[in-house]
Amino acid sequence: MKIAIGSDHNGLALKQTLLAGVLQGDTVHDVGVFASESVDYPDIAFAVAQAVASGEFDRGILICGTGIGMAIAANKVKGIRAAACSDVYSAKMSRRDNDANILCFGGRVLGPGLAAEIVTIWLAEEFAGGRHQRRIEKITAKEG
Ligand code: RB5
Repeated sequence: MKIAIGSDHNGLALKQTLLAGVLQGDTVHDVGVFASESVDYPDIAFAVAQAVASGEFDRGILICGTGIGMAIAANKVKGIRAAACSDVYSAKMSRRDNDANILCFGGRVLGPGLAAEIVTIWLAEEFAGGRHQRRIEKITAKEG
């Protein structure tokens, strides 16, 4: 699986921890940031969202302070279903029911252990399809 990842300054430390740990065996492209200076999270969110929407990458991971701004921004890109998840159950269900293609969370919210568990489960979980496919098609139809 090809994964695009990005963070703002508030997510940088957690991103680096995940890249050196749970994501080490995966094909991961880091779009930035690479330094702790303050940046605007939408710039990073759009870079990862476009990389996933184009088909170049299968999934995306975005980390800011809370994960919320990243999710709001990424969901503006056509074809993106970004879910901000701070617990394992929501992360699992965002794949199973919502076919989320971008996972967002907060470096100021999650510790590295829980973040690693959420990433592992989110990457492994399959979309259930069936009635959930119909619901996603209704969301997609709104994109125009
Ligand atoms: C800082 O820009 C902060 O707002 C950001 O890291 C994130 O938490 C946004 O949702």
